[in-house]
Amino acid sequence: EKGGYDYFMLKEIAEQPKAVADTLLGRIDAEGSLTLDEVRIPASVLREADKVVIVACGTAFHAGLIAKYAIEHWTRMPCEVELASEFRYRDPILDRRTLVIAISQSGETMDTLMALRHAREQGAKVLAICNTNGSTIPRESDAVLYTHAGPEVAVASTKAFLTQLVACYLVALYLGQRRGTKWGDEIRAVIRDLSRISCEVERVLETMEPVRALARSLKDKRTVLFLGRHVGYPVALEGALKLKELAYMHAEGFAAGELKHGPIALIEEDLPVVVVVPSPRGRSVLHDKIVSNIQEIRARGARTIVIAEEGDDAVVPYADHLIRIPATPTLLQPLVATVPLQVFACELATARGNEVDQPRNLAKSVTVE
Ligand code: F6R
Repeated sequence: EKGGYDYFMLKEIAEQPKAVADTLLGRIDAEGSLTLDEVRIPASVLREADKVVIVACGTAFHAGLIAKYAIEHWTRMPCEVELASEFRYRDPILDRRTLVIAISQSGETMDTLMALRHAREQGAKVLAICNTNGSTIPRESDAVLYTHAGPEVAVASTKAFLTQLVACYLVALYLGQRRGTKWGDEIRAVIRDLSRISCEVERVLETMEPVRALARSLKDKRTVLFLGRHVGYPVALEGALKLKELAYMHAEGFAAGELKHGPIALIEEDLPVVVVVPSPRGRSVLHDKIVSNIQEIRARGARTIVIAEEGDDAVVPYADHLIRIPATPTLLQPLVATVPLQVFACELATARGNEVDQPRNLAKSVTVE
């Protein structure tokens, strides 16, 4: 049942190219238009919505944080992202013009379910992004977009996360399309690249051996930090979460721009710091800023583990370890940048003798508050 892999997690990491392709299947037509009519949200609701609110927990929350960048950039609608467990006790501002997106692999997470019930009581429309057919969250939502990742058995979420991202990008593009956002060259290029992204994920998987070796060499470390900017920031949070839950190591993700507001004090000799570097094309300001962040931490002794696009030479002098990922449009980069972090955490867990598929204290679906 593990298909020749030692762990379900390894199998599910390897299944990601197919999972991503399955999420896209039949949803982009030959002209590059989105066909999500299956979600059956009336066009008027999409046109009249004035705000998007995303609710989710854990890894699904990180997918939501990334979705915010895409939704705001492609639709120019304001988008808030909230931990479901905080949202419902905060008396959030919602009405008929709020589109709520609930993201959940299992479709059974109690906090997310309670958040969506609360949103619907206030008159908001709820779209679920879910991996489990017929589960409670989609049943109680106004509409659902299934991720079609196939069953995820390992407690730590991998393929569900990548497919949640794809579903979020599809929703963002669909919203833009339905609201008449100008379909310029940028959007056309994004749709083209998204429809090919599964091959890029495959390419990343083929180059993971050095990441595994690096992970094994760090097995006696106590702490690993993760830095990113823009969509790389939630990727850093996700990398840290994977490491906590699988390797039981202290791991934290930071927005690189926050370094000098506190976290830089943590940097000490030989501390491993993983940095997710945005593309040097496109928003190159961000790229240049993160290169100086890498210089700053390295000058203070950090061991830098740099995840950067192929051809990005500016990072080379400051990278103790360099992990290459294929070039993608900025907003899609999390689909390729997350994969090495999953492999890294999985290998560290194995090296430390931990139960990879069933980490201590955790359950696959959290059906209590
Ligand atoms: C982390 C992980 C959890 C889940 C969270 C939400 O690897 O799996 O953080 O993402 O419990 O679960 P779902 O998506 O089922 O609502």
